[in-house]
Amino acid sequence: MARRILVTGGAGYIGSHTVLQLLLAEFTVSVVDNLDNASEAAIDRVTELAGKHGKNLTFHKIDLRDRDELKKLFASTKFDAVVHFAGLKAVGESVQKPMLYYNNNITGTVVLLETMAEHGCKKLVFSSSATVYGWPKEVPCTEEFPLCATNPYGRTKLFIEEICRDIYKSDSDWNMILLRYFNPVGAHPSGKIGEDPCGIPNNLMPFVQQVAVGRRPALTVFGNDYKTKDGTGVRDYIHVVDLAEGHIAALKKIFEGSSGGCEVYNLGTGKGTSVLEMVKAFEKASGKKIPLVMAERRPGDSETVYSSTKKAEKELKWKAKYGIEEMCRDQWNWASKNPWGYGKPDSVQ
Ligand code: NAD
Ligand code: UD1
Repeated sequence: MARRILVTGGAGYIGSHTVLQLLLAEFTVSVVDNLDNASEAAIDRVTELAGKHGKNLTFHKIDLRDRDELKKLFASTKFDAVVHFAGLKAVGESVQKPMLYYNNNITGTVVLLETMAEHGCKKLVFSSSATVYGWPKEVPCTEEFPLCATNPYGRTKLFIEEICRDIYKSDSDWNMILLRYFNPVGAHPSGKIGEDPCGIPNNLMPFVQQVAVGRRPALTVFGNDYKTKDGTGVRDYIHVVDLAEGHIAALKKIFEGSSGGCEVYNLGTGKGTSVLEMVKAFEKASGKKIPLVMAERRPGDSETVYSSTKKAEKELKWKAKYGIEEMCRDQWNWASKNPWGYGKPDSVQ
């Protein structure tokens, strides 16, 4: 029988791409999402893209903190594993509203983990972030680097990682994989699903995309005085479909394992790209000029962050396939076909 995976936050950007890859890999998938930062249209499009596998997807509009609803779901369905994306992710907002982030991300995760344990489901893949490396002393970042957090969002990732390690120490039946994502960009090559942030985008590529379709006048470049090739920040951008595949590899490792564990892996490409290089690649892919406004460094930003991919390559047998050309091509394909994301012009800022 096909394995059944619960995907929290499965209507969101990375979640929707992962759900599609899971369906294509013949898993049965239940999505739980409160649609706080997502649209149910993403679920419809994933169902359509999955073709004959689309029937293996069910959607439940539930907030993870709603213990009763979550319990009902676990009581009615036996899950073999959980892939946990659900969470809030805007760094600036987390500084303004820390309790919103602690409540949503940490309480949501604690309720989920308790409900899983009560129902004997002890296999988890969790979305952590390269943000836990802060401003690294050197690059590439390996999984053994010291961890830190510079804002409440980052602290929720760090705390959840620690919670997982503590749970495993207390009960070695758990099998958990914590994935530290670098910078996910791009979209499914079909152009049917992609990133559709609510409000003003915080991240580079969603902002660039909105400039290209005429929703914003110019990109503000945060800092051009870093000690990098062109003075702008350097990051490890990874195609969201590669990232989605990383989750399949993590689940395979969990299901193949005969014992429990709590392991952490970087998911990145191992390559650093500057803001200006990324803008240039997007201009080439889209044929659009992106006007730039140079500005001060953004507080909390690091200079250069990119991953060591060795551990994931060796132990997950996973490696990113796509480069920035494909990332920009697919992001533009999505943006040009869906300039207002899943929404209508009057429902977006
Ligand atoms: P996203 O906002 O598109 O997806 C998160 C989903 O979780 C949304 O659909 C939202 O509606 C849902 N959600 C939030 N709180 C919930 C709750 N309490 N109950 C149920 N559903 C809830 O974000 P994404 O980019 O797809 O990120 C997915 C995960 O990966 C997040 O945990 C994020 O912190 C992490 N991550 C993202 C990035 C990135 O750059 N996108 C980088 C590193 C880590
Ligand atoms: C940011 C978050 C990080 C989070 C990650 C994924 C901060 C300080 N860090 O990381 O915690 O895990 O997103 O959600 O917010 N840039 C511009 N103009 C823009 C936007 C970004 O120049 O309008 C630059 C940034 O300065 C940076 C690069 O583009 O050099 C990438 O930025 P971004 O996409 O926000 O990702 P991170 O900074 O890596």
